[in-house]
Amino acid sequence: MAVAVAFGATACGGGDDSSASGGSGGDGTITMGFSQVGAESGWRTANTASIQQSAEDAGIELQFSDAQGEQENQISAIRSFIQQRVDVIAFSPVVETGWDSVLLEAQRAGIPVILTDRAVDSEDDSLYETFLGSDFVEEGKKAGEWAVENWGSQPTFVAELQGTTGAAPAIDRQQGFADAIEGTDNIEVVASQSGDFTRAGGREVMEAMLNSNPEINAVYAHNDDMALGAIEAIEAAGKTPGVDIQIISVDAVRDGMQALADGQINFIVECNPLLGDQLMELAEQVVAGEEVPKRVVTEETTFTQEQAVEALPDRQY
Ligand code: AHR
Repeated sequence: MAVAVAFGATACGGGDDSSASGGSGGDGTITMGFSQVGAESGWRTANTASIQQSAEDAGIELQFSDAQGEQENQISAIRSFIQQRVDVIAFSPVVETGWDSVLLEAQRAGIPVILTDRAVDSEDDSLYETFLGSDFVEEGKKAGEWAVENWGSQPTFVAELQGTTGAAPAIDRQQGFADAIEGTDNIEVVASQSGDFTRAGGREVMEAMLNSNPEINAVYAHNDDMALGAIEAIEAAGKTPGVDIQIISVDAVRDGMQALADGQINFIVECNPLLGDQLMELAEQVVAGEEVPKRVVTEETTFTQEQAVEALPDRQY
């Protein structure tokens, strides 16, 4: 699926695209090659819009490439950016592992790399300048702590809808939640499977889980889109989401917040997609050869149903 390109940004497409024009202009304009994961969720759409708008505001020329959820497309896009000799490469890695070779190619070409939203699992942190994004373990922990407080006094059989297999937010949110509920007698994760961060994936996996585990009375979804898909499956099974089956989710995008305000979701941990301004600032500093912190953590909160009702009118995404 092609992402609509706005604000004068240039699309490179999902695969190898070495013919695309680009590279530094002689006028001092910074060119950034950006490889996005895809368009799997409401969060991702908001993140893409933020990056495109902030690039335009900062006067940075954006070469935008949509990887359509495939690591090999991201690797091809990064190679294409290297060939074009962009000033800086930024990307949100689909999965955590398998990046060392292409990052080494960028390093050898003298092109700095910024990780945004998701981290890579590499022993060599000199392969990138900085990582801007959420603390996903902390997000999972916040979800787990709410579960312990609100579900811990009665037998709770949890269906976990994981994000994309091998992606940092799926690995870390699972870990954070498991750590927080460890030692709690009443809460048991009885089924855990990937719904790939999509609404369709959440619905499909939830349907199957309800068939094989009729005792399920709680859901922990790694994002709002999967929670929204799960709501459809729960209703189709003749149960009431938020009541018969309580739901915790992550992101706090508008549709998720609406479901929270409507009582279909019970608690949401925020994951902020508006990373564009900070990313452009970091890019300017890196290109100017300035020191930047190796890790920039996004500030985030959590929402109960009452807080969602209050926050919804001003929600930007
Ligand atoms: O990496 C951030 C995650 O990716 C978001 O929580 C999810 O909605 C998205 O697809």
